[in-house]
Amino acid sequence: ALVDIEGTYGIVVLAEGHRELIAARRESPLIIGAGDGENFVASDVAAVLDYTDRVLYPEDSDIVVVSENAVTITNNGKRVKRKEERVPWNVEEVQRGGYEHFMLKEVHEQDRTVEDTYRGHISLIEPAVDLGIETAGDFEDILLVACGTSYHAALIGEYLLGGLCGFPIRVKVASEFDHRHLRLDNTWVIGITQSGETSDTLRALRGAKASGCRTLAITNIPGSSVTRIVDEIFLTQAGLEIGVAATKTFLAQLTALYLLTSSLTTDIRTRESLLQNLRMIPAKVQQVLDGEEQIAYHARRLSRYDNAFFIGRGINYPVAMEGALKLKEISYLHAEAYPGGELKHGPFALLRQNTPVVAIASRDDTYEAMLTNIKEVKARGPWVIALAEEGDVDIEQFVDDVIRIPQVDPLFSPFLNSVALQLLAYYAARERGCPIDLPANLAKSVTVP
Ligand code: M6R
Repeated sequence: ALVDIEGTYGIVVLAEGHRELIAARRESPLIIGAGDGENFVASDVAAVLDYTDRVLYPEDSDIVVVSENAVTITNNGKRVKRKEERVPWNVEEVQRGGYEHFMLKEVHEQDRTVEDTYRGHISLIEPAVDLGIETAGDFEDILLVACGTSYHAALIGEYLLGGLCGFPIRVKVASEFDHRHLRLDNTWVIGITQSGETSDTLRALRGAKASGCRTLAITNIPGSSVTRIVDEIFLTQAGLEIGVAATKTFLAQLTALYLLTSSLTTDIRTRESLLQNLRMIPAKVQQVLDGEEQIAYHARRLSRYDNAFFIGRGINYPVAMEGALKLKEISYLHAEAYPGGELKHGPFALLRQNTPVVAIASRDDTYEAMLTNIKEVKARGPWVIALAEEGDVDIEQFVDDVIRIPQVDPLFSPFLNSVALQLLAYYAARERGCPIDLPANLAKSVTVP
């Protein structure tokens, strides 16, 4: 029957009266959990972690017959062996650990996530980075491809790599990637996908490979489909993320991109400064988390509106996009992100007293321009709340409220602003009584094109 099936699938069949499951996949996730006197078929490792940490990853066109005591795999009629791998996570990863929601637990794990992702890749003695991938090479430009939150990480990567490494960088939403209409000579195509299963990202990477591009995946899931498509992988170390809203995997992706930038820059001082600043991030993330109550207080007010705008500039524009995505995804409140300077080109028409604006006002070279934007907004009546550095007293005269962000090199502010916006979205959603870990109509892995 599989010969006749078109498209992608992960399928499992239980025939009445038989004590066997028959499973197969094509471009969709399927894993086999190997237990003692019991075996499992699932689409995600998280589903079997309660029972076993030993997992097999079937390939496309494999047919797997699973009984209590045996797992037999054939491909095109021939017996094949697939390596059994140990999953580096334990059952605690699938428990809430006293938190009301997985999302909140995962937000609180982010100091560790950043450290776990850079640990082992940077030298403690000299400013050196080893990502375990080939970073030299004859590529002429880089194209980053991703969806959703991972796309926002890619946009931050564009800013970093473009600004500090001098390569031409392009970013494409994976569903808009069409290798037939892109110039891809000597292009290094980097896919970012926490799950490693996002159909659009996988399709884009296959297209890039077919065009002869070198490919790299930044992913959080060992053994996921993307790891079998690309030439090289960089594994982020966020651990298992269960909440549908991506939080700690986003910070892990940012860490990977800052590491990649450090390894690609030829300027030793830039590398030294990047690595020094990166090492400070876990403690600074913890400081943002310590301000949780204040953020929750503002979130309660935000939760009472129907629409919100997020504005940012420069490296924090993608952070504004991520803040808006997080809010709409889990609180069902409509939110839109704009570059600060773009509101006057249309959205001003919507700014009223009942349209709050969240403004990211980090103290980089966009700060003065952001103050101008905030004044323009305020003149139209909305409640404006700014994310601003500790010690920035100037901001107070222009906005209604301020969420304080620890001082950091502004290039690293996306880490901290993102954590604050995750908490803002979380508490707004909680106030609205939303099912935070399982928002309506969404899935953790988007395996359909
Ligand atoms: O697994 P991926 O990183 O490829 O997933 C991409 C998006 O589906 C994902 O980031 C989605 O936007 C999140 N649910 C947002 O929180």
